[in-house]
Amino acid sequence: MNRKNMKNRSSYTIKEASGRVCWSSPANIALIKYWGKRGVQLPMNPSISFVLSESKVTTSIEYSISKDILPGIDSFTLNGEEKKDFLPRIENYLLGLRQLFPFLEHARMRINSNSSFPHSAGIASSAAAFSALALCICDIWQELKEQKASESEFLRQASLVARLGSGSACRSVYGGLAVWGKTSLVTGSSDDFAVRLKEDLISPGMLELNDSILIVDSSVKKVSSSGGHTLMNDHPYRESRLLQAESNLDTLLRALSDGDMEKFGQVIENEALSLHALMMSSHPGYLLLRPGTLQIIDKVQEFRKESGIQVYFTLDAGPNIHLIYRKSDKQRVKTFIESELLDHCEDRGWSDDGIGRGPEKHNDNKQAGRG
Ligand code: PMV
Repeated sequence: MNRKNMKNRSSYTIKEASGRVCWSSPANIALIKYWGKRGVQLPMNPSISFVLSESKVTTSIEYSISKDILPGIDSFTLNGEEKKDFLPRIENYLLGLRQLFPFLEHARMRINSNSSFPHSAGIASSAAAFSALALCICDIWQELKEQKASESEFLRQASLVARLGSGSACRSVYGGLAVWGKTSLVTGSSDDFAVRLKEDLISPGMLELNDSILIVDSSVKKVSSSGGHTLMNDHPYRESRLLQAESNLDTLLRALSDGDMEKFGQVIENEALSLHALMMSSHPGYLLLRPGTLQIIDKVQEFRKESGIQVYFTLDAGPNIHLIYRKSDKQRVKTFIESELLDHCEDRGWSDDGIGRGPEKHNDNKQAGRG
């Protein structure tokens, strides 16, 4: 931990306390991909994503804090089921946060999480899970400490804390679009936390995009994202990837500001294919795309040419497809998906999503917006 983080420790005296906090936080899909890391979960290149509106994790923590308490988690449930196998990762995460949040040395917790999307939905759940957990921890700290943080300080801290759990989670604490990674292209950007991309930098239509998620294959990936990040350390195309990401970010930011859907689409497809090309050209190389992924990509590009409808694809680190298009084209794209694409999907599975408004705090079953 750096000096800035150490400050919490000296200014905190343990007080008996108990309570409950609850936050829901969305998954996000990257348009410019974070791929490769250094140090403590810091990105090799800047990335940008938007949060989803429907795909969220809601987490509540019931806590009690006392000087004599042995710290730990009493239980962790996911969708109502006790999940003991998740405990080591969460415990380890909380252990790593003790410098930043000294109360964790004296807290016992019961953690309940509920996901609005199934594990097989083709959406990386760790971003939503760690951002919801980070928001809860930061909120408890906000309750305990004397000097309260402003809303922007609170979210910045939540983003930093989420990053320590899963890199891309740091972009899930804001509504709309968020940028993570220091770049001269975005004022205030940082490797330590994400920042929200200000709405006045985005043409209004670009804030209303739809994302249809097509499930090609829901099985567990052969190589995890963290394995893939590590392979970037000695990747032969590492330096050119860093230049490419910066240049793609520049083009994407201009396209967002001009409302230029065609440029936007060219960049996001280039990023998706580049991400998978990096996996294929790693040592050892690996392939996460499936035949259905390629068939869908072909059909999407053909449909776009023939119909003139601006529908573009992006991919996460997996075989499933995110189709991004304007809300006004929803009906025509839905007809195309149902008639042409679902044969390539596992059990004809897909879901409709879009750009969301970000996390929400829940107070005694009432919801209060924040972020
Ligand atoms: O946050 P991680 O370690 O799961 O990595 C996410 C990597 C990608 O999803 C492929 C890209 C991104 O920026 O989200």
